[in-house]
Amino acid sequence: MASCVVSHIQSPPPLQKQEGSAFLKAILGVISYPVPRDTVCFSMVHINFLKKIVYGLIGFLLFLTICLWNESKKGYSVSLKLESKNFQLPRTLQFLARRLETKPVYMTTVTSSPRGSSVPNDARDRPWTERFRAKVWDEDSSSKNLPPRLQKVRKNYLHMNKYNVTFQGERQLKKLNFSALLCQLANRVKVTMIEGTDFPFNTSEWENSLPLKNIRASVGQLDTCAVVSSAGSLKASYLGREIDSHDAVMRFNGAPTRKFEQDVGQKTTFRLVNSQLVTSARHNFLQDSLYKEGILIVWDPSPYHSEIPEWYKKPDYDFFQKYKQYRKENPRQPFYILNPKMPWELWDILQENSPEDIQPNPPSSGMLGIVIMMSLCDKVDVYEFLPSKRKTDICYYYQRFFDSACTMGAYHPLLFEKNMVKHLNQGADEDIYLKGKVTVSGFRNVRC
Ligand SMILES: *[C@@H]1O[C@H](CO)[C@@H](O)[C@H](O)[C@H]1NC(C)=O
Ligand SMILES: *[C@@H]1O[C@H](CO)[C@@H](O)[C@H](O)[C@H]1NC(C)=O
Ligand SMILES: *[C@@H]1O[C@H](CO)[C@@H](O)[C@H](O)[C@H]1NC(C)=O
Repeated sequence: MASCVVSHIQSPPPLQKQEGSAFLKAILGVISYPVPRDTVCFSMVHINFLKKIVYGLIGFLLFLTICLWNESKKGYSVSLKLESKNFQLPRTLQFLARRLETKPVYMTTVTSSPRGSSVPNDARDRPWTERFRAKVWDEDSSSKNLPPRLQKVRKNYLHMNKYNVTFQGERQLKKLNFSALLCQLANRVKVTMIEGTDFPFNTSEWENSLPLKNIRASVGQLDTCAVVSSAGSLKASYLGREIDSHDAVMRFNGAPTRKFEQDVGQKTTFRLVNSQLVTSARHNFLQDSLYKEGILIVWDPSPYHSEIPEWYKKPDYDFFQKYKQYRKENPRQPFYILNPKMPWELWDILQENSPEDIQPNPPSSGMLGIVIMMSLCDKVDVYEFLPSKRKTDICYYYQRFFDSACTMGAYHPLLFEKNMVKHLNQGADEDIYLKGKVTVSGFRNVRC
């Protein structure tokens, strides 16, 4: 991070024949005595030189300690806005401001910066909403905002292109406005599940394995829905009751509710799981009671250009046997397979609306879940997809595992997903800041 770049390391000035302080001499004495007689002259010079080095070293160590301490305290998602054009604080002040960021709400970056900086004086008097805005996700974040490690990872994925993505759409030269973007999503992302009539699922091998009822028919039209991310920042959010007040709640992969009710609620209407989880022995998908509640949806990415039959022969993770077994053991629980083309339909729109190349990997489960819920509900509240004031490098609220990639994205084009979700937000910035809450409109209300 820029705050830790050592801009200049002073080379020691020319040696001067002057006495050091008594204190320093005492220290150096310990180091360099006893000295043989004929080397006294030499050691005087030596001592002066050493003095400079020790001064420098102490200063440098002090700087390094502060730097490391600061670095370990803050998340990478720290106020990206700070580094953008709006606030060009001098580097040292940025450093200071970042340190102050962990202070409570009223100590915002703006109010706490020292006098005489380039921050406008009236900042102190700006209304609350204005100040929140500076603290929430900047929808024009670019990969330059990523820590170097994640920039490299993104480049590697671009190079790897595992799913043979060849983007043929057109970049939006001008950013689509909110309603035009919503229309694109509603019209072009077809949220469908694999059905028993889809080849090759229409064979006897698959007989009765897929749910007979269409997902829309089985849930009806939902009014308000909550999408609950698994972010570490949900810890101590006390959002449980608010989340449970929605008609339907979507959760992801192995995210539990038990023991976390206060923060994440207890209702689970949908659970979106990836095919890796279904196949991995570690997750114990067939037995774990976590998965027995609500409607399950599994997704597995196809290659970018593949149709369902090709994907069926070569899925990313071969989850089909496990799926069939689960259905046999739990025939009454609805369990759907997401159409593997849907993630790429969404990916295209993400790419079209991003000025740079996004990772050629499918969108995150979180992003897929948001769009699935937009197709099923009138209004969708998304929790901690955009980080709140509780932002942290802890990946999940139910594990102690740190990685900035969880907020900023490595495999998934998470940064660009967040830009899009911010653009779609109809709620207040204050809600993002305080609750990590974004409100998006369902597709049914969209007039295109
Ligand atoms: C991508 O294309 C290459 C060459 O055409 C092919 O060998 C590879 O199997 C493809 N990968 C996928 C995931 O389809
Ligand atoms: C949004 O953009 C579309 C086309 O790009 C335009 O027709 C429409 O008037 C715009 N809507 C608003 C609210 O600016
Ligand atoms: C499955 O669907 C394919 C393509 O629609 C069709 O050709 C085939 O006859 C169907 N198979 C069965 C057993 O119905």
